[in-house]
Amino acid sequence: MASIRTLVVALVLLASQTRHLVLGINCFCDICEDKTCVSDGYCYTTTRLDKATGKIEHDFRCLDPALNHPSQSPIFCQSNVQLNDSFAIKCCNSGDNCNKDQRPLLHTRKQKEGPPEAQIGYDSTWLIIIGIIVLLVLIVLMLLIYCGMTQNRKWKNRRPGAFFKSNDSMDPQDQQPILGGINSLRDMIDMTTSGSGSGLPLLVQRSIARQIQLVEIIGKGRFGEVWRGRWRGENVAVKIFSSREERSWFREAEIYQTVMLRHDNILGFIAADNKDNGTWTQLWLVTDFHENGSLFDYLSTRTVDVPGMIRMSLSIATGLAHLHMEIVGTQGKPAIAHRDLKSKNILVKLNGTCAIGDLGLAVRYDVAEDKVDLASNSRVGTKRYMAPEVLDESICENHFDSFKRADVYALGLIFWEIARRCNVGGIYDEYQLPFYDMVPSDPTIEEMRKTVCDGRHRPSTPNRWQSIDALNTMSKVMKECWYHNAAARLTALRIKKTLANLGASEDIKPPQ
Ligand code: ADE
Repeated sequence: MASIRTLVVALVLLASQTRHLVLGINCFCDICEDKTCVSDGYCYTTTRLDKATGKIEHDFRCLDPALNHPSQSPIFCQSNVQLNDSFAIKCCNSGDNCNKDQRPLLHTRKQKEGPPEAQIGYDSTWLIIIGIIVLLVLIVLMLLIYCGMTQNRKWKNRRPGAFFKSNDSMDPQDQQPILGGINSLRDMIDMTTSGSGSGLPLLVQRSIARQIQLVEIIGKGRFGEVWRGRWRGENVAVKIFSSREERSWFREAEIYQTVMLRHDNILGFIAADNKDNGTWTQLWLVTDFHENGSLFDYLSTRTVDVPGMIRMSLSIATGLAHLHMEIVGTQGKPAIAHRDLKSKNILVKLNGTCAIGDLGLAVRYDVAEDKVDLASNSRVGTKRYMAPEVLDESICENHFDSFKRADVYALGLIFWEIARRCNVGGIYDEYQLPFYDMVPSDPTIEEMRKTVCDGRHRPSTPNRWQSIDALNTMSKVMKECWYHNAAARLTALRIKKTLANLGASEDIKPPQ
């Protein structure tokens, strides 16, 4: 009799599980019209703490099918509570509205430091059972992650430092290995792109973009606004394009998703999303956020020492060399020219190195067709940074190297901006834009052409630079970037090597 009852119970349970698998489950949904959505995977609840106001908010949703991966334990449902005290997530698939009464707990320091008995009132049997379950879950998680790692070619080539949460942080407290491995956007990108370096799957990008809260506007540009946003307690930068700039949004997202473009010295792309709100289309481009802001912002208010100048300049040259380089092979990368290099388009990371951003005007070189991938217009970019051959339209657009050489000219001007702010023994120059003393603000093409092409003027190099080895080398390098004859200019790779040697001779440690 008892065994028949057990069988009936088992059949009922199986039937209810099967219904979930086949029909999906209803989840409680705070933003849906009838407060319900149907998921064929999981429901979830999040807890978010707005640190500014101290307010706690919850989201109740269906898990986007694109995020249901791996299906037994989606990456998206894992939040490392030990390291995130402003965000927690909990998924469930145990039945209809299983997420309704869930309130995932945020980690608080108090909880961690207090005596264990004070936090958990269970008796020791429960503690043992919970301990065993946690251990089993950990083992399964570690196995899953191990499988992911062996499939992912990138893991094999990772530096030990890449196991840490962020390459930016110099604070050893931040350099804790992360249990479970997946805790940040960077981990998610590293784990899901299978080494192609071309970004997250499109549905994941959309889902991330739609969970971002915009916090404050941090800039306005040619194409729209740049905002600081928050995603699961992490800062992100959101560039919002106006609807009439759809082509620029598309182009920039396209360039960022070029295979193998990801690099420490290229601004990290996270997501692109276009959302129609009924009246207009919102076009978002989400990237890493760097709290130091642009190189222009940084140099306007701060100076650098000699190692700082070299590290900064070397990192920009390294980023540009990567952009310019063609990598041959199935996982190769086309050569790319930036075409709008300037201090406002470079971001300064916390460790003093830089990342090149604003790739919206970039062009790629298609070797097979021997063509630039865009009907390029010879005069684009920022007038102040335009090379002489761009200003007088003598640039040979059929030859891809011409675009790279124009980038190197702009790089020389950026080195000049940095070197002026190099503080040696308390002596440095005030921040100025290149040609500040030769053309008015917002110069016309004609004003720039007269100065740069007819007058052959270049920024002047202060006398003090001659007596300081590193500044003397920087001065020589920038002059070799500025040659009127584009073919005589250094290549980005040559500059990178020269600055790396300068760094080695000054005994400068590579960035952590
Ligand atoms: N300004 C423009 N883009 C930015 C970014 N990614 N981080 C910080 N400030 C920015």
